[in-house]
Amino acid sequence: MDNNLVWHNAVVSRAMRQQKNHHKSFILWFTGLSGAGKSTLAHRVEEILYHKGCNTYVFDGDNVRHGLCADLGFSDSDRHENIRRIGEMSKLFIEAGVIALTAFISPFSSDRQVVRSLVEPGDFIEIFCDAPVAVCESRDPKGLYKKARIGQIQHFTGISSPYEVPENPEIIVPTGTESLEFCAGKVVTFLAGNDMIPL
Ligand code: ADX
Repeated sequence: MDNNLVWHNAVVSRAMRQQKNHHKSFILWFTGLSGAGKSTLAHRVEEILYHKGCNTYVFDGDNVRHGLCADLGFSDSDRHENIRRIGEMSKLFIEAGVIALTAFISPFSSDRQVVRSLVEPGDFIEIFCDAPVAVCESRDPKGLYKKARIGQIQHFTGISSPYEVPENPEIIVPTGTESLEFCAGKVVTFLAGNDMIPL
C-alpha cells in the first residue's frame, strides 16, 4: 500500500447526481446458488427500474469473470477477492448515482458483510434467491452440476464447496418455487415501500 496517496474529493457529489437522476443510488446484492435465478431476476428488476426512469447496471458473475476477474478461480481466497472487487466497484457505481444490481453466488457471509460495511447503512440491500440445491441441480442450465457430480469441476458451490445462507437479508425471494414476475415484484415492492425508487 502506497502511503503517498491523498483522496481527491469530487466537486460533483453523489447527492447532486441523485438529485439530477430523481432517485437514490444503492446496491441490490442478489446472492444464491448457481442456477437459483440471480441473473435472470437482476435483469428483470433492472428492466422494471429502467422503465421507471432509473439509472441502473447489472454486474453478472459469469460476465465479470470474463474481464475484471478473469484472473480468479473458485478457491475460497479467489472468491473472497472476487467479491471484494465487485463490492468496491459497486461502491463506485453508487457514488456515480447508479443503482448497481449484482448477481454473484457470493457464498460466504463474511464477504457479503464486508461489502455491506463498505457503504452507508441502507445502501446495501441483500436479496437471498432461495432455491434449494435439488431445484438448481434439476435445472442445471449450464450443465455444471452434472460435471461437478462426476468430479469434472472442483469446489462447486452446493456440491463440494459451501453456501452460507444469509441470516438477515433485506429480501428473500423464493426463486425455487415462484415465478420470475412474482419475485421481481417482491423486490420492486420493497424498494417502492422504502422510498428508494419513484412509484
Ligand atoms: S462467486 O462464488 O465468486 O460469487 P460467481 O458468482 O462469480 O461465484 O461465479 C459463479 C458462476 O461461475 C456460476 O454461475 C457458474 O456458471 C460458474 N462456475 C464455474 N465453476 C464454478 C464453481 N466451482 N462453483 C460455482 N460456480 C462455478
